[in-house]
Amino acid sequence: MGITYDGQTKTFHLQSERTSYIIQVYNGYLAHLYWGKKIDSYNHGTKLRFKDRSFSPNPDLTEPLFSLDTMPQEYPAFGNTDFHIPAYQIQLENGTTVTNFQYKSHRIVKGKDELDGLPATYVESDSEAQTLELTLIDEVIDAEIIVSYTVFTTFDVMTRSVRFVNNGSKKLKLLKAASVNVDFRESDFELITLPGAWSRERYMEREKLRSGIQMIESRRGASSHQFNPFLALVRPETTEEFGEVFGFNLVYSGNFQASVEVDQFQYSRVTMGINPFDFSWVLDPGQTFQTPEAVMVYSDQGLGGMSKTFHHLYRDRLCRGKYRNQLRPILINNWEATYFDFNEEKIVDIANASKQLGIELFVLDDGWFGKRNSDKGSLGDWFVDRDKLPNGIEHLANQIVGNDMQFGLWFEPEMISVDSDLYRAHPDWCIHVPDRSRSEGRNQLILDLTRKEVCDEVIKRVSDILASAPISYVKWDMNRHMTEVGSISLPAERQRETAHRYILGVYYVMDQITNAFPDVLFESCSGGGGRFDPGILYYMPQTWTSDNTDAISRLKIQYGTSLIYPISAMGSHVSAVPNHQVNRMTSLDIRGHVAMSGNFGYELDVSTLSEEEKMEIKEQVNWYKGVRPIIQFGDFYRLKSPFVQSHTSWMFVSDDQTEAVLAYFSTLAEANAPFTKVKLRGLDPNNVYKIVELDQEFTGQELMYAGVNIPELHGDFQSIMWTLQAKY
Ligand code: DGJ
Repeated sequence: MGITYDGQTKTFHLQSERTSYIIQVYNGYLAHLYWGKKIDSYNHGTKLRFKDRSFSPNPDLTEPLFSLDTMPQEYPAFGNTDFHIPAYQIQLENGTTVTNFQYKSHRIVKGKDELDGLPATYVESDSEAQTLELTLIDEVIDAEIIVSYTVFTTFDVMTRSVRFVNNGSKKLKLLKAASVNVDFRESDFELITLPGAWSRERYMEREKLRSGIQMIESRRGASSHQFNPFLALVRPETTEEFGEVFGFNLVYSGNFQASVEVDQFQYSRVTMGINPFDFSWVLDPGQTFQTPEAVMVYSDQGLGGMSKTFHHLYRDRLCRGKYRNQLRPILINNWEATYFDFNEEKIVDIANASKQLGIELFVLDDGWFGKRNSDKGSLGDWFVDRDKLPNGIEHLANQIVGNDMQFGLWFEPEMISVDSDLYRAHPDWCIHVPDRSRSEGRNQLILDLTRKEVCDEVIKRVSDILASAPISYVKWDMNRHMTEVGSISLPAERQRETAHRYILGVYYVMDQITNAFPDVLFESCSGGGGRFDPGILYYMPQTWTSDNTDAISRLKIQYGTSLIYPISAMGSHVSAVPNHQVNRMTSLDIRGHVAMSGNFGYELDVSTLSEEEKMEIKEQVNWYKGVRPIIQFGDFYRLKSPFVQSHTSWMFVSDDQTEAVLAYFSTLAEANAPFTKVKLRGLDPNNVYKIVELDQEFTGQELMYAGVNIPELHGDFQSIMWTLQAKY
C-alpha cells in the first residue's frame, strides 16, 4: 500500500487497500495508465501506444507519432495538440491562452496537508495517508502547477487537488482550474448523476455514455438542488452489489462543472471542478490559487461498495467536531407547525408536549427576529422580535432547557432583506452590479461575503445570539441563488472571482462560528437539500435533506442522497398530513419509518394531536432511541430501489454485525400482487439472528442468500421496520 515511483519507466503507482492508480511521465507530460482493482505490480502490459492519427498534431517534432490528442492524460491543457475539454486554461498578459506545463519534479510525503481556506478530507496522524505532489512547470511564464494525490491507508479512497503558483513577473489569469481529470482508456460505461429540483433533490439517473460531451453543472452560486457535484461511471452490468464503479465527488459548495467526454477512439475524459463559466482568477506575481478537493472512489463491489466507502470517509475524516461520532438528538422543529405565526406560549406548548413524548431538542425555526412575520423582511437583523418573544431568546431557551430539553435556533446568516435595518444602513453590502437592478429571490439579496467586514459583522451578530442563551443546535439556512453577480470591493479584472470568493467567505464565516461554539450541533439547509455537499459537511455534520417531508417522496430523495452521503448527515422529520408539499395522506406509521431512516425528528404541532397519535409518537421515539446507534452510525445497504419499482427497502447493520434494522416500504397497492421477499445484506453469515418483531430465528446465510418473506401489505403506503439481534 502507498505510493511508489519507478525511476526507470517514470511511473507512479498509488495503491490503497483494494485500488491501484498508475501515472507515467511520458515525454514530459503526465499520462494516465490505469485506475481500478488493485494490481500488486504493473509491468506496462497496457503501455501507451501511438500511431500517426490524421488530424492529431505533434508537439514534439522529433516524435512524429506522439500527440497529446491521443494520449490519456492526468491534467491536460488546450492549445498544444489536445482538442478535448481541458482541465485548465490560463490567459497571459498578451491575451494568448497557450501554455506548456511539463513535469519538473515530484514529492512523496506522509500525511495530507490542509487546503488553504477550503474544506477537505483530513488525517489525524501522518500514518493515515500518503501524498504525491507532481510539479509541472511552464518555463516561458515561470509558473507551476502542483497536482496532488492522496491515498488513505484506512479508506479505499483517493483525493486530488491542484495548486497554481505564479513565480513569474507578469500577471496570469486562470480561466479554468479543474480539481481532477481522468482519461479512461475505454468508454463502455454508464453515467450516474443525481439531478433534482427544490423538494425533489438527488433523483438518481443512469444512462449509457454516448460519443461527445455529457455535462452537469451549477451556475447558481451554490452546489444546488438541480445537480449534486457528483458523478459515477459504472459498467453496464454493475448493480448494488456487483460490478465496477468509479465515483467522483467535489468538496465544494459553489458553481461546479463535471463532464465526461467520449472521443473518437472511445476514450472517456472525466473532468470536475469549479465551473469555468463566468469564472476567472487573476494570479499576481507570487500568488497561488488552490482548487477544491475531489474525492475519488473505486469499487468493484457495486454501488453499495462505493457508498460504503464514501460514508465511512465522510463520517470519520470529513465531518469534524464533537458531533462527528456522537449520537444526534431527536428534535422537533416548529416550521411546519406554525410557520411565522407563533408566540412564546405556543412555542413552550409545543416544546412541553414534545418533551412528554421523549423528544430531546426543540428547534425554533424562522420568524423569531427583526419584524419577520413573513418572508418579506428582516434577514440580517439578528435581534429577537420582542412582539413575539417579549422575554427574549434567553428566557425562552432557559424555559425549554429547564424542562430538560435542548434548545436550537434557525438562522439564515448569508442573506439580507431589502426591508431590514442592516440593508438600510449598508445598501452596498449585497452581491450586486452597480447601475443594474437587484433581482430578489424569496424577497432577499445575498450578503457580499467576498468582503471581510461583511463576514465579520455576520460572525458577530450570530455569535452574540449564540453566546446569549443556552443554544445547543443551529439550523443554518440559505434560500436563494445568485444573480447580478459582482462585488463592489473587487477591481474590474477580478469581477469574475465573485462567486468563488463568496464561497470562500461562507467557509470563513462557518469556520469562525463553528470553532467558537464547539458544543453546538450545526445542521445546514438550503431550502432543504440545495447545498447537500461535502464542502458544507466539513463544517456542519448534518444537512436538512429536503423541504419535502412527504414520506413517499422522501423514499427517492433519501435513497438518492445515500449514494454518497452517510445516514448521520441526513435530517428527516415526520410532518402533518395532508402533507404540506404534495397534499398526500399517509399513516403516522410510514411517516415514522421513513423519518427514522435518518436523523430523526418531527415537524408538526404535537400539542394538538390526539392521545392516540401522541402514544404512537411516544412509541416511535422510544423505539428509535433503541436503534439510533445502528441507524446513525451503522453500515447502510440499499435493497430495493424506489426508482425501479413500487417497493423500497434498505437496512442498517451495526459495525460488529450483531444488530440490524430492516425497513420495507410499499407505495401503491396492486390487486393480486406477487408475493415479495427481500434478501438482506451485511450480516454475519455464520451467526443466527432473531427478527424481534416476528419472534423467529434465521441464520445470516439464510437471510442473505434465500431472503425473508415480506408479509402481504394491504393498501397504499405501507411499511415495516424490523430489528434483528444476533444470538452470538
Ligand atoms: C427553508 C427551509 O428549508 C425550511 O425548513 C424552513 O427553515 C424555511 N426555510 C424557513 O424560512
